[in-house]
Amino acid sequence: MTATGTSPTLLSSFNLHNLPLANRIVMAPMTRSRAGEEMLANAMMAEYYAQRASTGLIVTEGTFISDQAIGWQHVPGIYTQEQTQAWQVVTKAVHEKGGKIFLQLWHCGRASHSSFHQDYQLPVAPSAIKLEGDSIHTPQGKQPYETPRALSTDEIPLVVEDYRQAASNAKTAGFDGVEIHSANGYLLDSFLQSKTNQRQDRYGGTLENRYRFLKEVVEAISQVWSTQRIGVRLSPNGVYNDMGSPDYRETFLYVAQQLNVFDLAYLHILDGLAFGFHELGEPIHLSEFRTVYNGTIIGNCGYTQKDADDRISNGHADLIAFGRPFISNPDLVERFTNGWPLNPPAEQSIWYSFEREGYTDFPTYLESQVKTT
Ligand SMILES: Cc1cc2nc3c(=O)[nH]c(=O)nc-3n(C[C@H](O)[C@H](O)[C@H](O)COP(=O)(O)O)c2cc1C
Repeated sequence: MTATGTSPTLLSSFNLHNLPLANRIVMAPMTRSRAGEEMLANAMMAEYYAQRASTGLIVTEGTFISDQAIGWQHVPGIYTQEQTQAWQVVTKAVHEKGGKIFLQLWHCGRASHSSFHQDYQLPVAPSAIKLEGDSIHTPQGKQPYETPRALSTDEIPLVVEDYRQAASNAKTAGFDGVEIHSANGYLLDSFLQSKTNQRQDRYGGTLENRYRFLKEVVEAISQVWSTQRIGVRLSPNGVYNDMGSPDYRETFLYVAQQLNVFDLAYLHILDGLAFGFHELGEPIHLSEFRTVYNGTIIGNCGYTQKDADDRISNGHADLIAFGRPFISNPDLVERFTNGWPLNPPAEQSIWYSFEREGYTDFPTYLESQVKTT
């Protein structure tokens, strides 16, 4: 209930642990490959995010925490001083517009290729299990996935330290918080799931062991950020990057329940099936997460304004993230507020096209009205 006794809607404000959000709309993290080969945030990215700053919270595109984490072209990093400084232009532009912005911390794990890495080192993963899927886009064109190298037990604390350092850099860069990408088959998700984690050490086998890496990452980041400024993203129903484990329900409800101890900013759950469903049973709904998780929940994937309002008013979610609608509608919040129609969805060809075209040039509703009159 709100202060006036009515149920909140998507457009109601939200207090995210003393970070006031103007509404309950989150811009979902979206890789847009506009950072150039130098992997630096830039003025064009600042313009793009500032255009969308009326959303309650922006979560940036996945951002690499180390060289080893790389697995996608023209994605920004947050592990060098230069990269850290470059992000300041983005946080400043968003804050000047009154927006709030978290950085998403990303390690691609097995969804990478040796051609991204120095000396053609293989991608790393919990176990040497290849991603079965279409080819991967690499700097040398499309190539087949490779069998990754299993991280040794001793290497894991080094990766945890990369997360901590990257999160510390995000603080220097002026972000309001960080989101740990533990979804969509990337490194942390692949440790959680039995399909990809067949380790015999303390990071594999039992649920407790598979969760250990994510837990250590949260603990490490909590040395630099209050846990109330750390979010975690999970994709319990997803098939993207060849994921989906028979024990998915047990695994993800366990993880959510364990995360209670941290009093996180939020748990960000891709419960919707619009990005693919593994079909290993019934999807896990937000209502199930509500029974085990005590904190703020963000729902995502395939939501319309109506679905989002329903989930918020029935209490299954506190906030809802929108991805693709934000690509072609910089003023998504104003369109939802005024009942204005949305721009047509953007062509997939511009999602990762390296160009300004299809990035900062989508008109707001009011701009499109001026052009047609
Ligand atoms: C172009 C594009 C890039 C994406 N990049 C990321 C990313 O960097 N990190 C992430 O967690 N999810 C990423 N996603 C998934 C989105 O955050 C979101 O979960 C997905 O688009 C479903 O939400 P929607 O139906 O509102 O678009 C991406 C999706 C798209 C379309």
